[in-house]
Amino acid sequence: MAILKIARMGHPVLRRAADPVDDPRAPEVARLVADMIDTLEDAGGVGLAAPQVHVPARVVIFRVPAARAASGRYRAAGLDEDTGEVPLTVLVNPRIDPVGEDVSWAWESCLSVPGLSGAVPRHTHIRYRGTGLDGAAIDREATGFHARVVQHECDHLDGILYPMRMPDLSLLGFTEEMMRGDGTPDGDGAAADEEAPAAAG
Ligand code: NI
Repeated sequence: MAILKIARMGHPVLRRAADPVDDPRAPEVARLVADMIDTLEDAGGVGLAAPQVHVPARVVIFRVPAARAASGRYRAAGLDEDTGEVPLTVLVNPRIDPVGEDVSWAWESCLSVPGLSGAVPRHTHIRYRGTGLDGAAIDREATGFHARVVQHECDHLDGILYPMRMPDLSLLGFTEEMMRGDGTPDGDGAAADEEAPAAAG
């Protein structure tokens, strides 16, 4: 296992559509995911897509922390007390369908766009499907922060970074600067240990 280098906005691998995975149970997919988990742990984010580690394959990993234990930056990104904890999930060849038409706004950041945060509208409620590393089908509904993280990660598989989802680029900025005022990623000011992006992926 290894910590992989994370591609940043502008790298061609982040701008192309990733390729479907023929066999989710293949050993090389398991190795890739193991390295992605190491990389995500090291970076301190909540999700990661394979293109972010320079592999153009339709694989994402994510987890949702327990709301009560989460810091203000996660709540600023849309994690509320109703959000259930979701353990680390590996999703191969994912597909997302919106449920209903509700849209929610929250702050996002991305390991491939370091230092920045932006307000992004996302479907409030989605159904997502894919397969796990064992080849078994995954079919879930998600709302709120959980739905947001899945949409953010799966966007990476289609060459989309969160700023491309922003209708108002005045709400994009350096996280440190935006934390100075109200209505910011951390309106109450950031603690030193809260420098990492909220919905990093
Ligand atoms: Ni991201």
